Amino acid sequence: MVTLIFYGLFILLLLLGLLWILVPALYGLPSIPTRPDRIRKALKLANLQPNEILYDLGAGDGRVLRIAAREFGARGVGIEIDPMHCAFTWLIALASGLGDQVQIRWQNFYKADLSEADIVFFYGTSKETARLGPKLARELKQGARVAAISADFPNWQPSAFDYEGLIFIYRMPPIKGDLASYLLEKEK
Ligand SMILES: C[S@@+](CC[C@H](N)C(=O)[O-])C[C@H]1O[C@@H](n2cnc3c(N)ncnc32)[C@H](O)[C@@H]1O
Repeated sequence: MVTLIFYGLFILLLLLGLLWILVPALYGLPSIPTRPDRIRKALKLANLQPNEILYDLGAGDGRVLRIAAREFGARGVGIEIDPMHCAFTWLIALASGLGDQVQIRWQNFYKADLSEADIVFFYGTSKETARLGPKLARELKQGARVAAISADFPNWQPSAFDYEGLIFIYRMPPIKGDLASYLLEKEK
């Protein structure tokens, strides 16, 4: 009987682990988390303020939301396609006493309403930024910021850039341009 329970638990854990890896991969964006120091740098560069609302598009294990809540006093809303990551983020937020500040939604970020966000955090590739750009420009309010890690938004000029962390910050409404036009402007 004990052996049966052991095998049952093992298979359950294996299935949950597979879901954790496979669902993000199916959506083309594997669950590779951002390093905490890179997150802090991006949130500082985006000037995240207490009580502002930060959306993390593809929230993964929820670390961006927890850092935003704990260290910046912000409210974090995570949009995540994988139910396992959602459950994990929700449980850790509760266990760390951040239940009031951190919210997780099981949803596709291309379909999420982003109009209340003060800051949008995104770690992904240029494939997603190309598709997300028009949606963000349409939905985000004036003065909202976008913090993009690794990939920039095509045809937008950043308002700040961190070379080491490859972090791009944009202020809404977006200015036409790109990284080159930003660097040229800075040199003037
Ligand atoms: C590279 S990880 C980033 C995790 C977290 N934002 C961080 O920086 O640590 C990308 C996450 O996006 C999620 N994802 C991929 N496509 C998505 C979609 N269309 N809608 C919502 N989440 C998505 C994946 O499941 C994965 O957890």
